[in-house]
Amino acid sequence: MKHSINRQLCVAPMLDWTDRHCRYFHRLISSEVMLYTEMVTCPAILRGEKDKYLGFSAAESPVALQLGGSDVKDLALCAKIAEDMGYAEINLNVGCPSDRVQKGRFGACLMREPELVAECFAAMHEAVDIPVTIKSRIGVDDEDSFEHFIGFIDAVRSAGCQTFIIHARKALLKGLSPKQNRTVPPLKYDFPYRLKAMHPDLEVIINGGIDTVELATEQLNHVDGVMVGRAFWNAPWLIREMHDAMGLKKQLLTRDEVLLSYAEYCQAMIDQGLSLHWLIRPILGLYHGLPGNKKWKSYLVTEAPRRKADVRVIQEAKEWVKDVS
Ligand SMILES: Cc1cc2nc3c(=O)[nH]c(=O)nc-3n(C[C@H](O)[C@H](O)[C@H](O)COP(=O)(O)O)c2cc1C
Repeated sequence: MKHSINRQLCVAPMLDWTDRHCRYFHRLISSEVMLYTEMVTCPAILRGEKDKYLGFSAAESPVALQLGGSDVKDLALCAKIAEDMGYAEINLNVGCPSDRVQKGRFGACLMREPELVAECFAAMHEAVDIPVTIKSRIGVDDEDSFEHFIGFIDAVRSAGCQTFIIHARKALLKGLSPKQNRTVPPLKYDFPYRLKAMHPDLEVIINGGIDTVELATEQLNHVDGVMVGRAFWNAPWLIREMHDAMGLKKQLLTRDEVLLSYAEYCQAMIDQGLSLHWLIRPILGLYHGLPGNKKWKSYLVTEAPRRKADVRVIQEAKEWVKDVS
């Protein structure tokens, strides 16, 4: 029996962004949001740099590890390592279109190999007791019909997969950068909607372009959950606003308290040798759209690189937004 996880609201895996510090900060904002790591490849884990790539704090829990790979044995091995380290879910990346990832035969190009994805899923599912999920696109290149999409889902579903996170646009594997692949192909929300209608037993989480509370809550009329990426990076307090709008457990920490707790965390990280200028990245958008926001940000990005071990920079920057709670 796999444990159940609340995926009504999720922060998307984002390379270089959703590192352990970002996740720690997001967890202070919401106790209920489901957090995903950046994609970590199997070779990176198996080379022996386990702590560098998988280290995380229990305070971030529950966290899903997103794996990149297509070697069945390696994926099963890595899934087990992650389970033993305390991860709550394993997610397989079937959505990244970068050249490097394509060369390694994983990410979005795996949508062309549903049987292999099914095998990978089955091996991981067999290896661990925590849930294994898939994050995919709705298609690749000209294999973009609903029938193709359902063909992919059906193959993986037959292997026992219950949860699909769908970035609702196809990927173009040639000619577009990963960044363009997050804006150029149009969003087609009807694909995940139709999937859920066809298979109400599956858990379907929708992703792509969701950037307001209204849009997020509306999705719950069609699918089981919402995954948000860039909008949460730009405006992390939106996590709390969506959390509240979805009626998730009431929070105790105010925005000020979240910031104070994160500053304490930064001090602990600085004591371990980290630099403040890296640690401030997740909080830059905390006052997005509010008076003083620009000065808050510019104070942080100017002072933190100069005073890499001085956590007081955060409280000084807060002076620019002191009327905001
Ligand atoms: C900087 C950045 C890095 C990303 N890295 C990953 C990744 O490691 N794994 C993944 O599945 N998707 C990755 N994505 C894609 C996001 O998870 C998400 O699917 C995409 O941004 C669409 O959601 P959004 O419109 O809410 O941002 C990344 C996106 C961004 C902006």
